[in-house]
Amino acid sequence: MAYRNIMVVGDYNDMSAVAAKIIIDIILEKPDCVLGLPTGKTPAGMYGCLTQLLNDGKVDLSRVCTYNLDEYVGLGPDDKESFHYYMNSMLFSRTAFSAANTHIPNGLAADPEAECGKYEDKLKRSGKIDLLVVGIGINGHIGFNEPGSDFKSRVRVVELAETTRKINARYFKSLEQVPRRAITMGLQNIMEAKRVLLIAGGNEKAPALARAFNGPVSEQVPASVLQRHDDLTVIADRKAAGDLSG
Ligand code: F6R
Repeated sequence: MAYRNIMVVGDYNDMSAVAAKIIIDIILEKPDCVLGLPTGKTPAGMYGCLTQLLNDGKVDLSRVCTYNLDEYVGLGPDDKESFHYYMNSMLFSRTAFSAANTHIPNGLAADPEAECGKYEDKLKRSGKIDLLVVGIGINGHIGFNEPGSDFKSRVRVVELAETTRKINARYFKSLEQVPRRAITMGLQNIMEAKRVLLIAGGNEKAPALARAFNGPVSEQVPASVLQRHDDLTVIADRKAAGDLSG
Protein backbone atom coordinates (compact mmCIF):
# COMPACT_ATOMS: atom_id res chain seq x y z
CA MET A 1 0.00 0.00 0.00
CA ALA A 2 1.36 3.41 -0.99
CA TYR A 3 0.24 5.24 2.12
CA ARG A 4 -1.90 3.58 4.72
CA ASN A 5 -3.78 5.83 7.07
CA ILE A 6 -6.65 4.04 8.74
CA MET A 7 -8.31 5.91 11.59
CA VAL A 8 -10.57 3.86 13.80
CA VAL A 9 -12.99 6.03 15.73
CA GLY A 10 -15.60 5.15 18.33
CA ASP A 11 -18.91 5.34 16.56
CA TYR A 12 -20.83 6.73 13.61
CA ASN A 13 -21.06 10.21 15.12
CA ASP A 14 -17.30 10.35 15.61
CA MET A 15 -16.75 9.19 12.03
CA SER A 16 -19.08 11.94 10.79
CA ALA A 17 -17.43 14.67 12.86
CA VAL A 18 -13.86 13.68 11.90
CA ALA A 19 -14.74 13.51 8.20
CA ALA A 20 -16.51 16.89 8.29
CA LYS A 21 -13.47 18.45 9.97
CA ILE A 22 -11.17 17.13 7.23
CA ILE A 23 -13.44 18.65 4.56
CA ILE A 24 -13.70 22.05 6.22
CA ASP A 25 -9.94 22.17 6.78
CA ILE A 26 -9.38 21.69 3.04
CA ILE A 27 -11.91 24.42 2.24
CA LEU A 28 -10.26 26.84 4.67
CA GLU A 29 -6.80 26.04 3.35
CA LYS A 30 -7.83 26.27 -0.30
CA PRO A 31 -11.02 28.35 -0.83
CA ASP A 32 -11.14 27.35 -4.51
CA CYS A 33 -10.78 23.64 -3.85
CA VAL A 34 -12.52 20.89 -5.80
CA LEU A 35 -14.40 18.30 -3.76
CA GLY A 36 -15.74 14.91 -4.82
CA LEU A 37 -18.79 13.83 -2.85
CA PRO A 38 -20.81 10.68 -2.15
CA THR A 39 -24.43 10.10 -1.17
CA GLY A 40 -26.05 7.36 0.91
CA LYS A 41 -26.56 6.45 4.53
CA THR A 42 -22.89 6.75 5.52
CA PRO A 43 -22.27 10.44 4.69
CA ALA A 44 -25.59 11.71 6.10
CA GLY A 45 -24.08 12.47 9.51
CA MET A 46 -20.98 13.98 7.91
CA TYR A 47 -23.14 16.40 5.91
CA GLY A 48 -25.00 17.35 9.10
CA CYS A 49 -21.71 18.17 10.88
CA LEU A 50 -20.31 19.92 7.83
CA THR A 51 -23.41 22.09 7.44
CA GLN A 52 -23.08 23.23 11.02
CA LEU A 53 -19.36 23.95 10.76
CA LEU A 54 -19.75 25.86 7.50
CA ASN A 55 -22.64 27.98 8.75
CA ASP A 56 -21.21 28.61 12.21
CA GLY A 57 -17.90 29.67 10.68
CA LYS A 58 -19.58 31.68 7.89
CA VAL A 59 -17.13 29.95 5.56
CA ASP A 60 -16.78 31.40 2.08
CA LEU A 61 -17.95 28.72 -0.35
CA SER A 62 -18.26 30.92 -3.40
CA ARG A 63 -15.26 29.36 -5.13
CA VAL A 64 -15.58 25.76 -3.92
CA CYS A 65 -16.47 23.34 -6.68
CA THR A 66 -18.13 19.96 -6.04
CA TYR A 67 -18.55 16.85 -8.16
CA ASN A 68 -20.75 14.01 -7.07
CA LEU A 69 -19.64 10.48 -7.73
CA ASP A 70 -22.80 9.19 -9.30
CA GLU A 71 -26.50 9.42 -10.15
CA TYR A 72 -29.19 6.97 -11.17
CA VAL A 73 -30.14 6.94 -14.85
CA GLY A 74 -33.79 7.99 -15.14
CA LEU A 75 -34.03 10.07 -11.95
CA GLY A 76 -33.92 13.86 -11.76
CA PRO A 77 -33.62 16.50 -9.03
CA ASP A 78 -37.34 16.29 -8.21
CA ASP A 79 -37.25 12.55 -7.59
CA LYS A 80 -36.83 12.01 -3.85
CA GLU A 81 -34.65 8.95 -4.42
CA SER A 82 -32.22 10.76 -6.73
CA PHE A 83 -28.76 11.79 -5.59
CA HIS A 84 -29.57 15.31 -6.78
CA TYR A 85 -32.44 15.47 -4.32
CA TYR A 86 -30.24 13.99 -1.57
CA MET A 87 -27.49 16.55 -2.08
CA ASN A 88 -29.89 19.45 -2.24
CA SER A 89 -31.69 18.46 0.93
CA MET A 90 -28.63 17.30 2.92
CA LEU A 91 -26.15 20.02 2.00
CA PHE A 92 -26.68 22.44 -0.85
CA SER A 93 -29.98 24.02 0.24
CA ARG A 94 -28.63 24.47 3.79
CA THR A 95 -25.30 26.07 2.92
CA ALA A 96 -23.82 28.75 0.67
CA PHE A 97 -22.41 26.54 -2.10
CA SER A 98 -22.90 28.26 -5.44
CA ALA A 99 -25.34 26.30 -7.61
CA ALA A 100 -23.14 26.95 -10.64
CA ASN A 101 -20.24 25.18 -8.92
CA THR A 102 -22.03 22.01 -7.82
CA HIS A 103 -22.05 19.17 -10.32
CA ILE A 104 -23.96 15.89 -10.40
CA PRO A 105 -24.39 13.72 -13.50
CA ASN A 106 -27.75 14.38 -15.15
CA GLY A 107 -29.77 11.19 -14.73
CA LEU A 108 -32.45 12.53 -17.05
CA ALA A 109 -30.11 13.19 -19.99
CA ALA A 110 -31.70 11.96 -23.22
CA ASP A 111 -28.35 10.43 -24.12
CA PRO A 112 -26.70 9.12 -20.94
CA GLU A 113 -23.50 8.17 -22.80
CA ALA A 114 -23.12 11.74 -24.06
CA GLU A 115 -23.78 12.96 -20.51
CA CYS A 116 -20.81 10.88 -19.32
CA GLY A 117 -18.59 12.61 -21.89
CA LYS A 118 -19.83 16.01 -20.69
CA TYR A 119 -19.22 15.12 -17.04
CA GLU A 120 -15.74 13.88 -17.86
CA ASP A 121 -15.00 17.14 -19.70
CA LYS A 122 -16.22 19.23 -16.77
CA LEU A 123 -14.02 17.23 -14.42
CA LYS A 124 -11.02 17.76 -16.69
CA ARG A 125 -11.64 21.50 -16.89
CA SER A 126 -11.82 21.75 -13.09
CA GLY A 127 -8.36 20.26 -12.63
CA LYS A 128 -7.65 17.57 -10.07
CA ILE A 129 -10.12 16.86 -7.29
CA ASP A 130 -8.42 17.99 -4.07
CA LEU A 131 -10.43 15.73 -1.79
CA LEU A 132 -12.74 12.94 -2.88
CA VAL A 133 -14.93 11.35 -0.23
CA VAL A 134 -16.26 7.84 -0.89
CA GLY A 135 -18.39 5.32 0.96
CA ILE A 136 -18.07 1.58 0.38
CA GLY A 137 -20.75 -0.89 -0.65
CA ILE A 138 -21.04 -4.27 1.08
CA ASN A 139 -19.80 -5.80 -2.19
CA GLY A 140 -16.74 -3.54 -2.12
CA HIS A 141 -17.97 -1.01 -4.68
CA ILE A 142 -16.94 2.64 -4.62
CA GLY A 143 -19.05 5.07 -6.57
CA PHE A 144 -21.14 2.67 -8.61
CA ASN A 145 -18.06 0.76 -9.74
CA GLU A 146 -19.34 -2.72 -9.09
CA PRO A 147 -17.11 -5.83 -8.74
CA GLY A 148 -15.36 -6.53 -12.04
CA SER A 149 -15.01 -2.83 -12.94
CA ASP A 150 -11.84 -1.99 -14.81
CA PHE A 151 -9.29 -0.07 -12.73
CA LYS A 152 -8.82 2.18 -15.79
CA SER A 153 -12.54 2.98 -16.01
CA ARG A 154 -13.69 6.57 -16.36
CA VAL A 155 -17.13 8.24 -16.20
CA ARG A 156 -19.60 5.83 -17.76
CA VAL A 157 -23.02 4.24 -17.63
CA VAL A 158 -23.02 1.07 -15.51
CA GLU A 159 -25.47 -1.71 -14.73
CA LEU A 160 -26.08 -1.90 -10.99
CA ALA A 161 -25.33 -5.20 -9.26
CA GLU A 162 -28.42 -6.93 -7.87
CA THR A 163 -26.92 -6.74 -4.34
CA THR A 164 -26.70 -2.97 -4.72
CA ARG A 165 -30.26 -2.70 -6.06
CA LYS A 166 -31.57 -4.80 -3.19
CA ILE A 167 -29.80 -2.73 -0.54
CA ASN A 168 -30.80 0.57 -2.10
CA ALA A 169 -34.42 -0.65 -2.39
CA ARG A 170 -34.86 0.66 1.17
CA TYR A 171 -35.13 4.15 -0.35
CA PHE A 172 -37.73 3.13 -2.97
CA LYS A 173 -41.29 1.84 -2.75
CA SER A 174 -40.25 -1.49 -4.27
CA LEU A 175 -37.23 -3.25 -5.74
CA GLU A 176 -38.81 -2.90 -9.17
CA GLN A 177 -38.51 0.89 -8.90
CA VAL A 178 -34.76 0.85 -8.23
CA PRO A 179 -33.07 1.95 -11.46
CA ARG A 180 -30.97 -0.67 -13.20
CA ARG A 181 -28.38 1.78 -14.50
CA ALA A 182 -26.37 4.67 -13.15
CA ILE A 183 -23.75 7.15 -14.29
CA THR A 184 -20.63 6.94 -12.16
CA MET A 185 -17.12 8.32 -12.02
CA GLY A 186 -14.79 5.46 -12.89
CA LEU A 187 -12.06 3.97 -10.73
CA GLN A 188 -9.43 5.89 -12.68
CA ASN A 189 -11.24 9.18 -11.98
CA ILE A 190 -11.28 8.27 -8.29
CA MET A 191 -7.58 7.38 -8.30
CA GLU A 192 -6.74 10.72 -9.94
CA ALA A 193 -8.03 12.68 -6.95
CA LYS A 194 -5.19 14.19 -4.94
CA ARG A 195 -6.57 12.83 -1.70
CA VAL A 196 -9.23 10.17 -1.05
CA LEU A 197 -11.20 9.84 2.16
CA LEU A 198 -13.15 6.61 2.61
CA ILE A 199 -15.74 6.58 5.38
CA ALA A 200 -17.41 3.46 6.75
CA GLY A 201 -19.68 2.84 9.70
CA GLY A 202 -21.50 -0.17 11.11
CA ASN A 203 -21.06 -3.95 11.25
CA GLU A 204 -22.45 -4.43 7.76
CA LYS A 205 -19.37 -2.74 6.27
CA ALA A 206 -16.77 -4.79 8.21
CA PRO A 207 -16.32 -7.65 5.70
CA ALA A 208 -16.04 -5.28 2.70
CA LEU A 209 -13.53 -3.08 4.47
CA ALA A 210 -11.38 -6.07 5.39
CA ARG A 211 -11.50 -7.44 1.84
CA ALA A 212 -10.55 -4.01 0.49
CA PHE A 213 -7.59 -3.32 2.77
CA ASN A 214 -6.36 -6.68 4.09
CA GLY A 215 -6.81 -8.64 0.90
CA PRO A 216 -5.09 -8.45 -2.49
CA VAL A 217 -5.78 -5.59 -4.91
CA SER A 218 -8.40 -7.10 -7.19
CA GLU A 219 -11.01 -5.86 -9.64
CA GLN A 220 -13.42 -8.15 -7.81
CA VAL A 221 -13.13 -5.76 -4.84
CA PRO A 222 -13.16 -2.31 -6.46
CA ALA A 223 -12.25 -0.43 -3.25
CA SER A 224 -9.01 -2.44 -3.03
CA VAL A 225 -7.56 -0.23 -5.78
CA LEU A 226 -7.31 2.47 -3.12
CA GLN A 227 -4.42 0.51 -1.60
CA ARG A 228 -2.45 2.01 -4.50
CA HIS A 229 -3.48 5.60 -3.80
CA ASP A 230 -0.72 7.89 -2.53
CA ASP A 231 -2.92 9.81 -0.14
CA LEU A 232 -5.73 7.72 1.27
CA THR A 233 -7.41 8.19 4.63
CA VAL A 234 -9.93 5.64 5.88
CA ILE A 235 -12.17 6.64 8.75
CA ALA A 236 -14.00 3.65 10.14
CA ASP A 237 -16.00 3.34 13.31
CA ARG A 238 -15.20 0.39 15.61
CA LYS A 239 -17.95 -1.74 14.14
CA ALA A 240 -16.84 -1.25 10.53
CA ALA A 241 -13.19 -1.76 11.47
CA GLY A 242 -13.99 -4.98 13.33
CA ASP A 243 -12.58 -7.35 10.70
CA LEU A 244 -9.50 -5.25 9.81
CA SER A 245 -6.10 -6.53 10.85
CA GLY A 246 -2.73 -4.80 11.14
C1 F6R B 1 -23.07 6.80 -3.35
C2 F6R B 1 -22.03 5.85 -3.74
C3 F6R B 1 -22.00 4.48 -3.18
C4 F6R B 1 -22.18 4.45 -1.66
C5 F6R B 1 -22.17 3.00 -1.14
C6 F6R B 1 -22.44 2.94 0.34
O1 F6R B 1 -22.89 8.05 -3.96
O2 F6R B 1 -21.22 6.18 -4.55
O3 F6R B 1 -20.77 3.86 -3.50
O4 F6R B 1 -21.15 5.17 -1.05
O5 F6R B 1 -23.14 2.27 -1.82
O6 F6R B 1 -23.74 3.40 0.58
P1 F6R B 1 -24.29 3.64 2.04
O7 F6R B 1 -23.52 4.76 2.62
O8 F6R B 1 -25.75 3.99 1.86
O9 F6R B 1 -24.09 2.37 2.79
